[in-house]
Amino acid sequence: MPAALSVQCSVLSLGPVQLATNLLLAPIAGYCDLAFRTICREFGGVGLACTDLLSPQGLLRGTATSLDLAQTNDFDKPVGMQLYGSDPEIMAQGARWAVEHGATVVDINMGCPVDKVTKKDGGSKLLTDLSRAVAIAARVVKELEACALSESQWQQRLGTARLIGSGRIPVPLTCKMRLCWHTSDYESGAACSPHLARMLADVGVVAVTVHGRTTEMKFSGQVQLAGIARVVEAVDGRIPVIGNGDVRSPADAARMIRETGCKGVMIGRGALSMPWIFRDTWAHLSGEQASGEPGEVPVATQIAMIRRYFDLMRQYRDDHFAIFQINRRVSWFAKPLQRKLENGKMEGIKPFKEAVRNARTPQAVYEALDRFAAGELRGGFGAWEAEEAAA
Ligand SMILES: Cc1cc2nc3c(=O)[nH]c(=O)nc-3n(C[C@H](O)[C@H](O)[C@H](O)COP(=O)(O)O)c2cc1C
Repeated sequence: MPAALSVQCSVLSLGPVQLATNLLLAPIAGYCDLAFRTICREFGGVGLACTDLLSPQGLLRGTATSLDLAQTNDFDKPVGMQLYGSDPEIMAQGARWAVEHGATVVDINMGCPVDKVTKKDGGSKLLTDLSRAVAIAARVVKELEACALSESQWQQRLGTARLIGSGRIPVPLTCKMRLCWHTSDYESGAACSPHLARMLADVGVVAVTVHGRTTEMKFSGQVQLAGIARVVEAVDGRIPVIGNGDVRSPADAARMIRETGCKGVMIGRGALSMPWIFRDTWAHLSGEQASGEPGEVPVATQIAMIRRYFDLMRQYRDDHFAIFQINRRVSWFAKPLQRKLENGKMEGIKPFKEAVRNARTPQAVYEALDRFAAGELRGGFGAWEAEEAAA
């Protein structure tokens, strides 16, 4: 194996939890549900998958929405449960709830730019109040220590991970952040993330994930690898840094590791259309697959994957929700189905997407999948479709 790649294939440890790879599925509110996490895990290569952001108040009150979002099972391990909020005490109680409900890792959201979250001082608003961010983390670490688990309790939540250590061991805490709030701060070299990461390490946070954008950037512009590298430099090997943002291929992940020195890579949107990206990225990083592009997945496998997602959604939730999800997600799932014909033209799949988007019964969804697999529901590659495919 080339020396450059052997560094990239080290597995990642989050405190006492040694993951099977260094690749993580990002939380994506409304998308990275149990059914989708299962699909990614079935393809392979996922070191850790995370729930979408969870409201600790919702969990503690037992609201149906929060409990649905926190749904997990024995196959869905190791799993991170991500909490958002700004009250240290409530976050601590939320963390205890997460431990009692199967979390392998607890994560605090310090990166969400959405108004609904930042108006309540949570998410990336914490990047403007570092002492509060650190106080929350310190209080959560204390709570996690107070509900440390025995080795036998640990065995039930490890899945593909391994436990390093013995005796009673607390569930580890990680934090996910952006570079800082204001883009001008980043540009002038005054981003708070390097300083924050160091302070979080001081209070017992075992790793930080850095999405290389500012809050003001939301999802525009390009991920700033230099910003992630500054956090890596600041923590100086005390805790691992997980890089995140715009990874759409194994080559992107390799580049992120090479240019930032991060120890792990978290992938979000790239996985929504290619749940096999973790398998292919791990194969690339470990030198098994030379190509930096995601592997070719046969159409039949892709259709089987969409069907499996839909079946799992029906099983974990209900038909109504499964249909709602497949209607809105078909564009993501269908992206890789777009292919070049022998004459060099793109084959349109708009009829397929429309059939799934308009399906109102499980039978209509299955029929659309069967027809596409049989070579129907293709054609009409229009301008808007080209734009969607490029997005
Ligand atoms: C629709 C949407 C929802 C998201 N929800 C969350 C969330 O619940 N928690 C979180 O930490 N990040 C969330 N993110 C951010 C992603 O985890 C990730 O940091 C970001 O998409 C960049 O990575 P990517 O380019 O691999 O997608 C969300 C992103 C999107 C697009």
